[in-house]
This record gives sequence, C-alpha cells and structure tokens, in this order.
Amino acid sequence: MSGPLVVLVGPMGVGKSTVGQLLAARLGTAYRDTDEDIVAAQGRTIADIFVEDGEPAFRALEKDAVARALAEHDGVLALGGGAILDADTRRLLAGRCVVYLSMDVEEAARRTGLNAARPLLAVNPRKQWRELMEARRHLYEGVATAVVATDDRTPEEVTEAVLDAV
Ligand code: S3P
Repeated sequence: MSGPLVVLVGPMGVGKSTVGQLLAARLGTAYRDTDEDIVAAQGRTIADIFVEDGEPAFRALEKDAVARALAEHDGVLALGGGAILDADTRRLLAGRCVVYLSMDVEEAARRTGLNAARPLLAVNPRKQWRELMEARRHLYEGVATAVVATDDRTPEEVTEAVLDAV
C-alpha cells in the first residue's frame, strides 16, 4: 500500500509533532501534520475553527485532511489527537504502519497538552484529559500496529523507540 511510511497517533501534547519531525529526519523523509494542513487551508487557528464553526465542522475538515494526506504523503504523518474518532478514518488506517504514542495523565500535566489553549481542555484540563483518554484509548490501540510509551522519555528517546518498533 502506498502512503506514509509511519503514521503517528495519540493524544494532544504527547509530542507527535516533535517526534514526527525527528523521525522524518532520521528516515530521510518529509514530515506532515494534518492540524497544520487544516490551519494552512483555512487561514485560521484550530482554536478559532472550534469557536467559530464548532467541533463537528472541525471534524469534517479533519476527516478530509487525513484522507488527503494518507493518499498524498509518503513520509511521516502525524494526525490530530481526535482524528481516530472517525470510523472511516480508522478504516483508512488499516494495514498501515501506525504508532500510538501514549502517556499517562501526570506526564500530560507536565507537558503542553494540559493548557487552556487547547479547545477541548479549556474548562478543567486534567479531568477533561482523563475523560478523553477513557473514550479514546481503545480507539488508539485499535488502529495502532505499535504502542510507544513516552513517559519519562526525551523526544530523542521516543524517536529511537519508534524506530525500534517499526
Ligand atoms: C484535538 C487535538 C488537536 C487538534 C484539536 C482537537 C483532539 O491536535 O486537532 O485541538 O480532539 O484531541 P493535536 O493532537 O495535534 O494537539
């Protein structure tokens, strides 16, 4: 199957962008990020899209952005944390090399994932993050061909672990 060499999935703040760029450099390939594709196409931030159009409208944009990137990109691709909520997207990931970058809530609290700039975490970040993970963990695990825990690891160490896992 053509498409990305590696697809990274996992919750916001887990380091998909940082690790994705390191991984792409190690593999001598290009990095692409569906959140960045959406921001570039819309000329607005993700937070603005959520506020102005609502989450369902964002999810529709995201679904299209993921399908396009899976068809066009042959390097490392990072998906937004909620992309796997869509059943068609999950089907499109079948048979591909998909790495789930995981972290626990304490690690999330130490990282940028739990700050109010993230639209889904604006009210009570820690509680909302736990709820998101309860709803999503099995979806990440379901699409993943490998799981790499990022807790207590530097981005470079995570990148090595991903390279070992794929
Ligand atoms: C979201 C994750 C974000 C972004 C949006 C919604 C989510 O992407 O797409 O804020 O539902 O988990 P990152 O995982 O790249 O931060």
